[in-house]
Amino acid sequence: MPKRILVAYASRTGSTIGVAQAIAAVLTESGVQADVVPMPDVKDLSLYDAVIAGSPIQAGAWLPEAMEFIRDHRTSLNQKPFAAFLTCMTLAMGKGKYRDHVSGWLEPVRSMVKTRSEGLFAGALDIGKIPSLGDRLKFKISVLLGIWGEGDQRDWDAIRSWARELPKSLS
Ligand SMILES: Cc1cc2nc3c(=O)[nH]c(=O)nc-3n(C[C@H](O)[C@H](O)[C@H](O)COP(=O)(O)O)c2cc1C
Repeated sequence: MPKRILVAYASRTGSTIGVAQAIAAVLTESGVQADVVPMPDVKDLSLYDAVIAGSPIQAGAWLPEAMEFIRDHRTSLNQKPFAAFLTCMTLAMGKGKYRDHVSGWLEPVRSMVKTRSEGLFAGALDIGKIPSLGDRLKFKISVLLGIWGEGDQRDWDAIRSWARELPKSLS
């Protein structure tokens, strides 16, 4: 079992941080030291036996800084057990109908680093926290049209149950 695991995250409006912290809390309960660090702050992977990296989806992709993290650390990530997760609002719709489609959004990550486990989670949409005015307007209209649902759709049971399997899959 890995002794020390990095849980690296990217986030725009904060909800993926909560997911990263929940994953780390489960790992800690199982006796693993888990460090939760924003991806741009990660400098040295040599401290870690395994890495878990997660990002929200925007426009069908991980955030640019998350992809940069994978590109920058690709060599060392390929020498360690690695797991990836995403948060998105598509998974809050259609009762699981879009899971395969959402899984495809991790393909650019898989093409660079082999994943031992992948977590696909519904996220949270808080329009007031979206930094860009244009995006806020776009999302307000989409919510009014019923294309997106607003609110916190994070499924903590699903997140924790994925995290409980990680010490084994990252061994
Ligand atoms: C500008 C923007 C674009 C988004 N694009 C998508 C998308 O293409 N597909 C999707 O399922 N969710 C999309 N979302 C929803 C986010 O992935 C979701 O709200 C996520 O949980 C936000 O995480 P964060 O709070 O850590 O930034 C988008 C959200 C924003 C603000």
